[in-house]
Amino acid sequence: MKLIICENYEEMSRTAARIAAETLLRKPDALLSFAGGETPLGFVHRFADMVNSGQIDPSRAYYVSLDEWAGLSREDEGSCGLFNQKELLGRMRIPFLQAHVINGAADIEEECRSLDGFIAAHGPLTLSVLGIGMNGHLGFNEEGVRFDLNAHVIPLSETTKRVMPKYFGEKFHPEYGISQGIRQIMAAETVLLLASGEHKANILREAVRGDVTNQVPASILQTHPSCVVVADKAAAAML
Ligand code: PGA
Repeated sequence: MKLIICENYEEMSRTAARIAAETLLRKPDALLSFAGGETPLGFVHRFADMVNSGQIDPSRAYYVSLDEWAGLSREDEGSCGLFNQKELLGRMRIPFLQAHVINGAADIEEECRSLDGFIAAHGPLTLSVLGIGMNGHLGFNEEGVRFDLNAHVIPLSETTKRVMPKYFGEKFHPEYGISQGIRQIMAAETVLLLASGEHKANILREAVRGDVTNQVPASILQTHPSCVVVADKAAAAML
């Protein structure tokens, strides 16, 4: 694992956007996947800015979303689909050649099959940009997840259920998540793991310095041949 420690959230976001831009410049037909959530918000905005200023051209590239709350549609407040549309895809003046965004309100088994199909057709992922959950999850690969799965539906952990009101208040109470599997994430040429804030310091230390275990799913990234952790000082404080 390579570690880049940034002064603050803004620098973390810019650093990640620069790496994503370099990926696209090197491989114009890349398959990119970016996590939703608080952590990657600045990053996806910077990425869209770089598209809009003509520094990068996504018109030959593919995009696939990482995960979704089962039951939430791409229009629902707090959904990953809405995040993708509003914060990334809808901001880009030049669209990706194709973008596949999970619909959590559709038949979720069918959504898994179509996610697998899209990644198989255009993949493997060139770049996967991830956040880390308070329990060390990647996407919705929760504690105890099997590392050999592709897209799947998984019960949300108690930690994730505790954290989720920050996205949509008490409006929804999903029990399951749909997620790219660890197998697909590990097959990515490069993985960026973003972490920001002191509340992530402990779990980031476990993921980066602890044992590789499915009890801390992000720890599997220690075995990825090209994983870059981009963390701000607060999140990196315990490394
Ligand atoms: P956050 O989510 O960026 O909103 O903290 C991270 C995650 O759960 O993967």
